[in-house]
Amino acid sequence: MAAQPMAPSVDPVADPAAWFRMSGFLGSCTSDTTFATHCTYRLGGPIRLFLEPQSTDDFEVIRMWLDLTEAPHFFIGGGTNLLASSAPYPGLVLRLGDNFKRIDRPAIDCLVIGAAANTAQVLKYCMHHELGGLGVLAGVPGTLGGAVAMNAGTMRDWLDRSILSVTALDPYWQLHQLSPEQCSFRYRGSRLLDEGWRVLETTFRVIPGDLIRPHVEDHLAMRRRTQPGGRNAGSNFKNPPGLSAGALIDQAGCKGWREGGAVVSDLHANFILAESDCTPEDVFRLMQRVARRVEEKSQVRLEPEVVLLNFAESWESTWPDGKGDG
Ligand code: EPU
Repeated sequence: MAAQPMAPSVDPVADPAAWFRMSGFLGSCTSDTTFATHCTYRLGGPIRLFLEPQSTDDFEVIRMWLDLTEAPHFFIGGGTNLLASSAPYPGLVLRLGDNFKRIDRPAIDCLVIGAAANTAQVLKYCMHHELGGLGVLAGVPGTLGGAVAMNAGTMRDWLDRSILSVTALDPYWQLHQLSPEQCSFRYRGSRLLDEGWRVLETTFRVIPGDLIRPHVEDHLAMRRRTQPGGRNAGSNFKNPPGLSAGALIDQAGCKGWREGGAVVSDLHANFILAESDCTPEDVFRLMQRVARRVEEKSQVRLEPEVVLLNFAESWESTWPDGKGDG
C-alpha cells in the first residue's frame, strides 16, 4: 500500500463528501443514496456516505476517515443477500468500483477475477471461452467477492473447490494473499466472513475445453422451477446440518404467512418476498415468527442466511434465551 496520505483541512464529520474529494480519493462518493437502491430486496434506509473505491490506495484514505470519525462501515457487494433496516445508517457503505471487476487469464487453466465482477459476467466469460470449474455459480446472484466469502454453491458443490488463492483485506485494512486452507471454507461460510475480511481478487483453477453451457442452462432452469422471482434475497435461512430449511418451514405450515408487505413464498418456503408496501422490519418480524414456529414444530432453531444490518435489536436478542444460532 502507498504511504499514509495527508488529511485535508475540511472537517471529516461535518462535510465528509468534501473531505474525500480533497483527500485524493480516486473513487466516487455520494451522500444521497439508500440501501434500497443497492439491494435486491429494494429495502433499507438512507446511507450517510456511499463510496466506490477504485484502487488499494483509496483504502488508506478510507481508513484515515474511519480513524478520524470512529464511524461504522459496511462493505456491500451485489446486495443480493442483505436486509438493512429502514433506520439511517450512520457510517460508510463501501462498494468496490469498476477497477475491481477485471477477469484475467494468466495461464490456460487459471482465472484471476476481481471481487466486484458479477457472477453472470463470469459465467458468460466461462461459457464463451469453454472453461469449466465455476458452473456452480449458475443462478447464484451477486458479485464474486460475496460468492467467495459465503462459499456460494448448491447443497452438493461449493465454489471453494476451484479456488487457488484469495487476495483480501484483513479487518485492519492490511492486504494478504490467502490459500484456500487459510480461508477455512465451509457450507455458506468462511473465516473471511467470520472475521470481516474483504475479498479483492480470487484466483481460480478452471478446466479448458469444458462445455459448461448445458450445465449452466440446466441449473438456471432448475432454479426457475423451484425458486420464486420478485423481490427477495435468496434463502432467508441456512439449511441446518443434514436438513432443509425450506422443507422445515413448509412442514411447519408457514407458506403464505404474511407480516405487513412481507410474505413467505408459496413456491419455496425459504424465500420471503417483499411486496410493494413492504418494510425491512416486516421481513425481520416475519423471519422471527417463522423461526419460532419451526422451533416449536421441529425443535430446530433456524439461523438467518441473509445478513441483517442496522436493526434496533440483534437477531440473537430476539430469542428468550438470547441465542439466535441454536
Ligand atoms: N422443499 C420443501 N418445501 C419448500 C421448499 C423446499 O419441501 O417450500 C424441499 C424440496 O422439495 C427439497 C428440499 O426441500 O427436497 C431442498 O430444497 P431445494 O432443492 O430447493 O434446495 P434448498 O436446500 O432449499 C439450496 C440453497 C439455494 C440453492 C439451491 C440449489 C441453501 C439455504 N439454499 O436450496 O441457495 O439455490 O440449494 O441447489 O443452502 C441461497 O443460498 O440464497 C440459495 C437460494
